[in-house]
Amino acid sequence: MSTQSPSRKVLHIGAAYYPEHWKSEQWLNDIRLMQELGISVVRMGEFAWSSLEPSAGNFQFEWLDHAISLLALHNIRTVLGTPTAAPPAWLVSEHPEILATNEEGKKVQFGNRCHYCVNSSAFHEATARLVKAMAEHFGSNPNVIGWQIDNEFNRICYCEHCHSLFQEYLKDRYKTFDELNRRWTTAYWSQTYSDWKQIPIPIGPHNPGLMLEWKRFVTQSYRKFQKLQIDLLKPHLNEQVWVTHNFMGWFDGLDHYEMAADLDMVSWDWYIGMGHNEPVFSSATHDLTRGFKKKNFWVMETQPNTVNWAKINNPLYKGEARTMAWQAIGKGADAVLYWQWRSALNGQEQFHGTLIDQSGQPRPFFEEVKQIASEFRQLSSLFENTQVESRVAVMNDYESRWSISWQKHHRDFDYVAHLMAYYRPFCQLNIPVDIISPDQSLEGYKIVLAPSLTIVDEKRVAHLKAFVENGGHLVLGSRTAVKNRDNAFHPLRPPAFLTPLTGAEVEDFYAINEDVPVIGNWFTGKARIWAERIRIIDHDFTLPVATYGSSNGWLDGQVAITVHNHQAGIVYYVGAYLDETAMFAFLKRVASSAGVNGMFEAPVGVHVYRRVRTYDRKEVFVIVNHTQAEQLVKLDNNTYDDHISGKRIAGQIRLSPYGVAVLTKTI
Ligand code: GAL
Ligand code: ZN
Repeated sequence: MSTQSPSRKVLHIGAAYYPEHWKSEQWLNDIRLMQELGISVVRMGEFAWSSLEPSAGNFQFEWLDHAISLLALHNIRTVLGTPTAAPPAWLVSEHPEILATNEEGKKVQFGNRCHYCVNSSAFHEATARLVKAMAEHFGSNPNVIGWQIDNEFNRICYCEHCHSLFQEYLKDRYKTFDELNRRWTTAYWSQTYSDWKQIPIPIGPHNPGLMLEWKRFVTQSYRKFQKLQIDLLKPHLNEQVWVTHNFMGWFDGLDHYEMAADLDMVSWDWYIGMGHNEPVFSSATHDLTRGFKKKNFWVMETQPNTVNWAKINNPLYKGEARTMAWQAIGKGADAVLYWQWRSALNGQEQFHGTLIDQSGQPRPFFEEVKQIASEFRQLSSLFENTQVESRVAVMNDYESRWSISWQKHHRDFDYVAHLMAYYRPFCQLNIPVDIISPDQSLEGYKIVLAPSLTIVDEKRVAHLKAFVENGGHLVLGSRTAVKNRDNAFHPLRPPAFLTPLTGAEVEDFYAINEDVPVIGNWFTGKARIWAERIRIIDHDFTLPVATYGSSNGWLDGQVAITVHNHQAGIVYYVGAYLDETAMFAFLKRVASSAGVNGMFEAPVGVHVYRRVRTYDRKEVFVIVNHTQAEQLVKLDNNTYDDHISGKRIAGQIRLSPYGVAVLTKTI
């Protein structure tokens, strides 16, 4: 085993590697190519259960030891995955109850990953046996720099065991039927329960209180399963060795803030599928992921040019992957790993993009990664101890998202699209944004946007109130504070207990299928999809910012947006789902009146990202031209060093198509 100390590299580039697919004689060829490419890390093991434990308790770790040390000899570090997403055939045949049950009550088929029941005791036991053995064996290996638990948690199990655990969970939370029946208004459609065993797992639409609890239960089940593994690993790991899970961006099967709480670091798998990178949406997804812990993260997987599962598995444009890699770094990623290194000869993913083809030779895409790897290596130290800093936060809440998605009221009211409508203008203005849970600290933020925080309890009211009292500018969007933690209506007009903050209430809400004109003090535009009719209550301090033009009669001349000036802070209530141009004008004004300005002047499609060194506040700017045209960015009065071109720049910077610049102020 190599005695080298763990890499102190900040920016890692790597790939998912599956040595178990190949005879060990071929590994050296792979690893030499990795070295030629400039890879600094591989992730291994995350589906290798049948190779690591071919029968119960029969651990075969030598091959992985060998791979880890061969890689280390070539200066490549390892991230180890626990292989629980791929329970092997022998285990499933010994314990058929491990297989998950789908919504129709059928056992899912073995062999397509995540086929387990997350609550199965036999599965927990088998997991514990293997993870403990792996922790004892690999935990102190200096070349293993981090661990990934499982892979992309996503399966929902509807088996009898999960069902009875769910009923126990409800009993524990509500204690009495009276309490549950009252909070869920079960008299509605005669849902009144008199035995915990009567309560179903909701399939499709059901009582909103029941549906929300089921989601909480699923999150709790995964959190426990993840924690089981973390607790077995941690005692065997050195302090600097981290534990992560690879999440899937906006996937909403679980509450990611809950899941992230037990991890040292989060990571995510960034796939484009068909088409091309949408830089604004991808920026938001990075901001979302960083916000799970408000810490730097890893891109644990991304596509080496193509995937195999989209309708059309088109390649990225040449040069596009490089802009994506730098976008990730600019947004706070410390690593980018391609999935996967080499095309396996068989298995479900033969046609997926790889760096090395089935013949063992580099594909043309290899060259692009080589360039990225060399840039990462050269610029790595610049990013040491740096992180993204934002004065703007967008609140994202899984419970509100679920609640709205179950009762959209307008087929086009998509929670994420609505959140993006608030996010986009800030991105276009190159103002850094954090996407965070409504329960995270708001310290350091000047502007907080809550696009549709529909579930609001007393704690959240107090949290938002304190923010405004401290001088914060709060923007509340449509559907705010309609419901409580039981997914029940507040017995008040929205925004319920937030009304003292807004100085206005929502008299009624309308799903609209014809655009409604909106006439603002600073803009005119349209409301689409959704429009709320607002009544100002506190006339002394609340003013209309926009009113509706003539449309369906109910909205004609009514208030669409308000502003309430508090002693220190400001609260906007936005009842209209504004079109893109109007939203831009509105939020640009919100930002400038809060004194929050963008970095540099960049044309559409050029993003400016910024990381700040924690101990001396030195700034590193990553400027990415996400377009295929040459672009010009106006700088401020400082002189900058571009670490990619090696040039000193003042006034402006010219970026070639898909060009990237990494700037620091000249000292
Ligand atoms: C991911 C998964 C990888 C691989 C990849 C293909 O979701 O984590 O193991 O299957 O998709 O795009
Ligand atoms: Zn189950």
